[in-house]
Amino acid sequence: MTLLALAVLAAQVAQVGTTVEGLRVEYLTNPIGIDVVQPRLSWRIASATRNTMQAAYQLQVATSEASLTRGANPLWDSGKVTSDASVFVDYAGPPVASRTRYYWRVRVWDTSGRVSPWSTPAFWETGLQPADWTAEWITPPPTAADSLPSPSPFLRRAFRVGDAVRSARLYVTSLGLNEIYLNGQRVGDQLFTPGWTSYRRRLQYQTYDVTALLRRGANVIGAILGDGWYRGNLGFSRQRNLYGRQLALLAQLEIRYQSGRTERVASGDWKASTGPILSSDIYGGETYDARRELSGWTAGEAPYDDRNWTTTGVLVHPPPAVLVAAMSPPVRRVRELRPVSIRLAPSGETLFDLGQNFTGWARLTVTGPAGTTVTMRFGEVLDKGGNLYTANLRAAAQTDRYTLSGKSREVYEPHFTFHGFRYVAVAGLPSQADSTTITGIAVSSDLGQTGSFVTSDSLLNQLQRNIVWGQRSNFLDVPTDCPQRDERLGWTGDAQVFARTAAFNMDVNGFFAKWLGDVAADQDPSGSVPWVIPNPLGGDSVRFAGTAGWSDVAVIIPWTMYLTYGDRRLLERQYPSMRAWVDYAHRRAGTGLIWRPGWQFGDWLALHSDDPSYPGATTGTDLIATAFLAHSTDLVSRTAAVLGRTDDAASYRALFRAIREAFDREFVSRTGRVGENTQTAYALAIAFDLLPDSLVPAAAGRLAQDVAAREHHLTTGFLGTPYLLHVLGATGHMADAFALLAQRTYPSWLYPITRGATTMWERWDGIRPDSSFEDPGMNSFNHYAFGAVGDWMYQNIGGIDVDPAVPGYRRARIAPRPGAGLTSASASLETVYGKLSSAWRLDTGGQRFALDVTIPPNTSAEVTLWDARLADVREGGVGLTDRDGVRAARQRGPDVVVDVGSGRYSFVVMARAEKQP
Ligand code: BGC
Repeated sequence: MTLLALAVLAAQVAQVGTTVEGLRVEYLTNPIGIDVVQPRLSWRIASATRNTMQAAYQLQVATSEASLTRGANPLWDSGKVTSDASVFVDYAGPPVASRTRYYWRVRVWDTSGRVSPWSTPAFWETGLQPADWTAEWITPPPTAADSLPSPSPFLRRAFRVGDAVRSARLYVTSLGLNEIYLNGQRVGDQLFTPGWTSYRRRLQYQTYDVTALLRRGANVIGAILGDGWYRGNLGFSRQRNLYGRQLALLAQLEIRYQSGRTERVASGDWKASTGPILSSDIYGGETYDARRELSGWTAGEAPYDDRNWTTTGVLVHPPPAVLVAAMSPPVRRVRELRPVSIRLAPSGETLFDLGQNFTGWARLTVTGPAGTTVTMRFGEVLDKGGNLYTANLRAAAQTDRYTLSGKSREVYEPHFTFHGFRYVAVAGLPSQADSTTITGIAVSSDLGQTGSFVTSDSLLNQLQRNIVWGQRSNFLDVPTDCPQRDERLGWTGDAQVFARTAAFNMDVNGFFAKWLGDVAADQDPSGSVPWVIPNPLGGDSVRFAGTAGWSDVAVIIPWTMYLTYGDRRLLERQYPSMRAWVDYAHRRAGTGLIWRPGWQFGDWLALHSDDPSYPGATTGTDLIATAFLAHSTDLVSRTAAVLGRTDDAASYRALFRAIREAFDREFVSRTGRVGENTQTAYALAIAFDLLPDSLVPAAAGRLAQDVAAREHHLTTGFLGTPYLLHVLGATGHMADAFALLAQRTYPSWLYPITRGATTMWERWDGIRPDSSFEDPGMNSFNHYAFGAVGDWMYQNIGGIDVDPAVPGYRRARIAPRPGAGLTSASASLETVYGKLSSAWRLDTGGQRFALDVTIPPNTSAEVTLWDARLADVREGGVGLTDRDGVRAARQRGPDVVVDVGSGRYSFVVMARAEKQP
């Protein structure tokens, strides 16, 4: 953009003050195929003027873009609505119809009465309601091999398009995974569709705009089906077919001609065969024989001879699940990784190091004689001998086999499997390997990156990268525990401890909204919540279910999404499920309100007192279960209050207080000792507000003492770790918190990084100080649970946080703290209102503290400058009084607190030497 154009734009923005952008419907931008009948509309305001707040808005919706921009009798016009709401505003027009595109636009008035221009129009398009489906569930002829890894079925249907096409939509789902092709082209770039949900109750369908793929005359639609989560190996007891044995497809292609006529090509009597995919299993990998490729099977223009194909059957019993439109960001290829080294392994395999542990597969590029088979094995680490280490994969073979067709330059990527790996060990290469032979393809739910966190410390920056890669690796349509061994399940405990951090790094609102739908769907009628969601393990209210810290996911994540995004409707939708869990756990605890569950996961993978490698501390499951019961009861009470259910709010508030008293009687001494005097006991008791205020300093003192006595090492596991630094920092022991974070020897967050980790390890000592590996039965090098420390880094070092009383970062808190020798740090977060950021540095030998912050329009923030005196603070080089955007400034004890509106600010706390005499 030329300087002149920039000047013109700046003048326009200055002249008009505000503009409106970033229009979203539910969690998506211009979504196609949503089935929310009353969608929520959100927008962001852009303005260079500080302290810009919205005073009113006007929304217009129409079924054509032209009539919308003409403003001529829109379908719905909200008129001028006096409100500062700009996120999740309900569409309140006439009921929406299926398969219809609605265009919308918005303009806003700011508090000085200026009106913005109308936003650029956006749209949403509705999908199908259950009654709109006329297609049949078709299935390839059953084979005896259905219960074994067997060739992937190919289904095809030829059809004619007799007229000029105005638009065409394909609505499709399947039992098992699907890839759809139209006239030789892959439809969309989504992977592992329809996704993993609670298949017996909810099954997603995807909608694709295929207008551009159709042509007049002969057309062909085709589908490849894969075992996937539906019937592939799943769970940790080598089981298959956990949801069903027969793969099936439901496809409905709707063509709208220029003439207005519509036509439907639906799954019914299609043709079926098998091809090059001899087997494809999520854990096992894929075997592909390129000599069996079915070239031209969906090309369309050239006739294809499918006389030897069989005819599909129709599923006698269609699946009971409700068809729901996919609303969360799909899984896609998100990164490509080149090998950082290629060498021969002692095993004789060629070893490719991709330099990063991640989830995905390898793209193989090879030339050689037909019939040559290249075998690729995937692993996270190398053993002492320098060979690929695979013992920690357990029963997951993670091996792809590709047999060449002999064509020139063959390129292969698998279809229905994924691997957790950094290294690829390749055997059978027909020619010399080079940097193009193997390319790492990282796949993940394609979530918008919302956060960034950088400091002056390279190890802390690596920790942040490991947390982000851990999230990227395990947010694959569902939040999995790990991506490599025969598990990869939606472990609830891991997701709940990590959710807050996850919401800093990426936009997880839609992702978790989808998954929470499955939490509620798979919740036991008793209210108990399964260990993993979706739950293929079966079980009942106690078997594979009903565990403190894990099942509390049903309460903690909806609340976290509300705090982070202001998603009140998700809270409303999940409220029955939230209540049901607390009522269940309350019943388990009984009248005494102390839940004695006996064996439970407890503080999983904490350093236990009998741990030879490091004498830790074991926290009792009764303390943990009672603490989480109290915490979830507290959150349900707050949720009820937000939803206006005052009676519920009061009764759960009373229950919380009663549990708190019981906890105090049972686990807390009058001198502040809690339970087994473990770091986790103190962290949970203080974080969940379970101690009388008078005892908090003593208890926190005991915690800090334990940390110091262990030379600043932690002992916490999955449940204590997320709260440890928060509690130390909030009770006056910030230096201990920083010392724990900066600790480089085992156990600590940075120890794995000193051992070359590029993701978060499941255990503190996945690789022990003596370089031996931990127990291969449970030793993943890509588990994000301990990455839950990330939110503390954003909130305390970066200094950005939400004001819990005003969710969605409508009001933010900026309060960065230097520590651990850091000289600078910056953190930013794309909130639903726009970018929030904080960047600080210590100058002149740490005497001068400079802080730059950005507050998005239509929000405000409280900025805290620690250990500062009002007189020493400058903004934009001058004192705070009458500074544009500075609403108030005050001394709060040793700190300065500044209340600011939106805008960019540059604060400096002047060094002593700089102060005027
Ligand atoms: C999983 C963890 C889970 C734990 C609970 C492990 O096998 O990998 O993610 O939280 O079991 O026990």
